[in-house]
Amino acid sequence: MTETSHTPAIHLLTRTLGSWEVTLRRHPLNRAQAVRRYDAAGPGWHGALGRLGVPQAYGALWRDVFAAYAPGPGPLRFLDCGIGTGAFSEAFAANASAPVAVSGIDLSPAMLGEAQARLGATLRPSLCLGDIRALEAETGSYHVTGAAHLLEHLADPADGLAEMVRATKPGGLVVACLTRASLPGALISMRWRTHLFTLRSARALFEAAGLVDVRARPLGPGLPGRLSLAVTGRTPLEDRT
Ligand SMILES: C[S@@+](CC[C@H](N)C(=O)[O-])C[C@H]1O[C@@H](n2cnc3c(N)ncnc32)[C@H](O)[C@@H]1O
Repeated sequence: MTETSHTPAIHLLTRTLGSWEVTLRRHPLNRAQAVRRYDAAGPGWHGALGRLGVPQAYGALWRDVFAAYAPGPGPLRFLDCGIGTGAFSEAFAANASAPVAVSGIDLSPAMLGEAQARLGATLRPSLCLGDIRALEAETGSYHVTGAAHLLEHLADPADGLAEMVRATKPGGLVVACLTRASLPGALISMRWRTHLFTLRSARALFEAAGLVDVRARPLGPGLPGRLSLAVTGRTPLEDRT
C-alpha cells in the first residue's frame, strides 16, 4: 500500500498499526426488513410527523402545486405511493382544487391499518398492500401520483419513479418528497439506510424519468426544509405508448 505523508501522530499510528482503508457502504433495507421496521413504527408515526411539522409542510406543498395546476372538474385521481399513515393524502385532499379519489399502496400492513383508521371515514381511500415497483395500476390511470419519503428507500429510486410515471396520465403530475443531503437528513439515512438527494440530483432523477417542467425546492422553512426536498414534474402530453 502506498505511504502518504501525515501529521507525526498519524504517521506513528500507521507505522504501528499498518495502513487501513475504511469504506462505508449503504445497504438498503430489503423488503422483509422494511416491513418489519415500518410495522413497528406505524402506531407512533403520525405523532412523530406532527412533532416535526411535516403535515403542515405537505399542506403548503400541495397549495403551491394546485396554484399552478388546474385539472378538469374531477374527481381527481391520486395515487399515494408508500402512503404510510396517510398524511400526504390528507394534505392533498385538503388543498385539491376538485373532488378527489385517493388510492394508496404500502408494503406495511400496520401502516395501511393506520391510514384506514385515520382516513377511512372521510376520504374512503382505496388501499392496497404491495410494492410500488410492481404497481397493478393501469397505464395513465391517475391525474397525480405522489411519493412522500418513499423513493429514497429503494435500491434504485428510478425503478419506483418509472412505475409512478407509467401510472400517471399524459400531462399529469408526479410529486415526491425526498430526504435531503444535510445533517438531519444524514441521521435519517443512517437510521433507515436511505438515499440522500440534493436539489440537483432530485431534478436529475425526475428528468431522467422523462418528466418535464421539473422543479425542486426545500420542503418548507424550518426543520422540514432541512430534512427534505420536494420535487414536481409533469408527464409529457404526447402519446407515450
Ligand atoms: C418514510 S415512510 C413515509 C410514509 C408517508 N408517505 C409519510 O409521508 O408519512 C415510507 C413508507 O413507504 C413504505 N414503503 C417502503 N418501501 C416500499 C415499497 N417498495 N413499496 C411500497 N411501500 C413502501 C413503508 O412501509 C412506509 O410506510
